[in-house]
Amino acid sequence: MKMEIMGTGSELAKGLLTNDDLTQFMETSDEWIRERTGIEKRHVSLGESVADLATEAALKALEDAKADAKDIELIIVASCSAEDALPCLACQVQSNIGADKAVAFDLNAACAGFLFALNTTFTYLKSGIYKNALVIGAEVLSKIIDWTDRGTGILFGDGAGAVYVEAKMQDEDNYRFLQRACGAKGSVLSCVNRDINNPLYKSEVSKKKVVMDGKEVFRFAVGTIPACIEELLSINNIDKEEIDLFLLHQANKRIITSIAKKLGTGMEKFPTNVEKVGNMSSASIPVLLDECKKSGLLKKGQKVVLSGFGAGLTYGASVIDF
Ligand code: ACO
Repeated sequence: MKMEIMGTGSELAKGLLTNDDLTQFMETSDEWIRERTGIEKRHVSLGESVADLATEAALKALEDAKADAKDIELIIVASCSAEDALPCLACQVQSNIGADKAVAFDLNAACAGFLFALNTTFTYLKSGIYKNALVIGAEVLSKIIDWTDRGTGILFGDGAGAVYVEAKMQDEDNYRFLQRACGAKGSVLSCVNRDINNPLYKSEVSKKKVVMDGKEVFRFAVGTIPACIEELLSINNIDKEEIDLFLLHQANKRIITSIAKKLGTGMEKFPTNVEKVGNMSSASIPVLLDECKKSGLLKKGQKVVLSGFGAGLTYGASVIDF
């Protein structure tokens, strides 16, 4: 079965925060942030919700694919920053775009969320249950960032990316994936969202902001991702040299450079946009995918590795014949 990416789209939040802007309220510098993370600026919400950004990205992906929302059978939104506990983001997007026929649900695997949503979609398409899908990664992380913490406040941005995919008959699969989780290391990157509060029990008031052990996250990403990609390629008898592009979760430039180095592959095969948009968690990969497709870097016939890693800890990689 071939899972064909028919269209891509993305939407960034309207606000723009440069590193110099951050120095107005945080003890940091443009030089420090660029050197440690590669990030120059990031977009933040001026009131747009995760569902707003997801909807715009979805509409652009459908337009790119010349597809009709009425024909969509499955919508998955990957996110860890929805404003609303209910209804889920995917149902909000379904309603906003008029995809009345689709089943819709969310998936949260943090920065690996879009990858896991694409893996889930592939499995549905391969089984024949659905023929097409809209897969979205969307975040407004700025609301869960502690803007007084310079360890996390410099990293993240808000945006959404979407792909519209269709199943095509073909003997060989064009998509293979590996996905893993390591819950025992969950405390390395966490965000308490809601307190337990009922007539019998009240939690102590929690911070409700992202808390991160940056060094551990760095070690985790650089320690697991090269081996994960190599295992995926080896299982599927693919040579590393056959890969045209590696589209990685845009956590930060130093992580991506270290992964490329460990794989022994030049940075020219690792396009990045983290410099301009920061780390957008589950929106990172689909926004980069859209940019690469629109710029002509990503072309039909290429073999492309996607890899995500993040809170959970969750991680994985897939390879697609684009
Ligand atoms: N500006 C200036 N100084 C800073 C800043 C800042 N923004 N942040 C920390 N410092 C200081 C620290 O206080 C410390 O000072 P000290 O030596 O006087 O104590 C010094 O800089 C070094 O701090 P470290 O925390 O050791 O800095 P490190 O080199 O580890 O870089 C960073 C921090 C960039 C977060 C790094 O650990 C990293 O890249 N980690 C990966 C985290 C990540 O990408 N997370 C993304 C979310 S998860 C995901 O997407 C997979």
